Amino acid sequence: MDAYTPTPEDKFTFGLWTVGWQARDPFGDATRPPLDPVESVHRLAELGAYGVTFHDDDLLATEPDRAKAIERFKEALDATGMKVPMATTNLFTHPVFKDGAFTSNDRDIRRYAIRKVMRNLDLAAELGATTYVCWGGREGAESDAAKDVRDALARYKEAMDVLASYVIDKGYDIRFALEPKPNEPRGDILLPTVGHALAFINELEHPELVGLNPEVGHEQMSNLNFVHAIAQALWHGKLFHIDLNGQHGPKFDQDLIFGHGDIKSAFFLVDLLENGGYDGPRHFDYKPLRTEDIDGVWASAAANMRTYLILKAKSKAYRADPEVQEALRAARADQLAVPTLAPGETYENLADDDFDLDAAAARGYHYTRLNQLAIDHLLGVR
Ligand code: GCO
Ligand code: MN
Ligand code: MN
Repeated sequence: MDAYTPTPEDKFTFGLWTVGWQARDPFGDATRPPLDPVESVHRLAELGAYGVTFHDDDLLATEPDRAKAIERFKEALDATGMKVPMATTNLFTHPVFKDGAFTSNDRDIRRYAIRKVMRNLDLAAELGATTYVCWGGREGAESDAAKDVRDALARYKEAMDVLASYVIDKGYDIRFALEPKPNEPRGDILLPTVGHALAFINELEHPELVGLNPEVGHEQMSNLNFVHAIAQALWHGKLFHIDLNGQHGPKFDQDLIFGHGDIKSAFFLVDLLENGGYDGPRHFDYKPLRTEDIDGVWASAAANMRTYLILKAKSKAYRADPEVQEALRAARADQLAVPTLAPGETYENLADDDFDLDAAAARGYHYTRLNQLAIDHLLGVR
């Protein structure tokens, strides 16, 4: 027990599919046996987590009878006090979804997919979840000949509109969170980035019920800046949930432990989440390395939370450091919050500005010093 030992107040949550991943990959068989969700709930509670999240099918990992599986899951939640803030649907494993779910070219499959979500929405509401994630892993194609993307987007919108009306009619306190990803398992996935998803939400019948569940690695797979993506999602009021993990730049989706990819980006991400007004769960969506046995699985779950708490402490120390504050002022970081036009001013007031072009162009921003201070904090020499 040290300062980086999590408690439920930290609001750390884990997908059942993360610790439960059997480490089957395209080249090799599972390296671990199936994990009973009841065991996961108990172990994660012991480690200090706040709750768990699940796909409808995750509950059936070791108990094929749905009613029994749900009963056992509820007992584990009651026994541990663990919460279920979010749930989601598996619309990607079964071969029926090989061409997508909401956007499959096959209309019967599109109808089945919406029914599958509706059924798990009932359970999500019963368990008190307020966020419902929609990750469209199979919504896409490998060839531009396969489908008219405009039609696919219309069907995607149709599905989200139907699901929103279902939640409204049932009186559920649930909002949807779209999870962007550029590729994998499809060659190209629809709504590939945070920006695409934000634009899509504007076209929906109930945009207020739909936000985002961005994942660290998914933006980084496209070489995009995840901290910027989260800042923009917050600015639009659309950061409904978040998937924390790690990724080393553009390559396959690594789903590493949080902070085990780009540690500096993870530092500024925690800094933003802690100071940017996000109060939802800190949800880990990662895969324990394929090399690990079950002890390594629990060590990896603990590592996610520990890394987050270390970075949280680092962010606090960074902000409290008088030299950082001074460097921020020297960089004029505070001036960016000042509106460019004063109250009552219009474009006409810009004309008589007493502006010295050469002096303004010559001024430095001192970002190097600021950046090095962040590095010093991160590496523990300050
Ligand atoms: C991925 C995805 C998935 C989804 C999850 C929820 O790593 O490709 O993030 O893990 O988040 O399946 O539907
Ligand atoms: Mn991922
Ligand atoms: Mn995810």
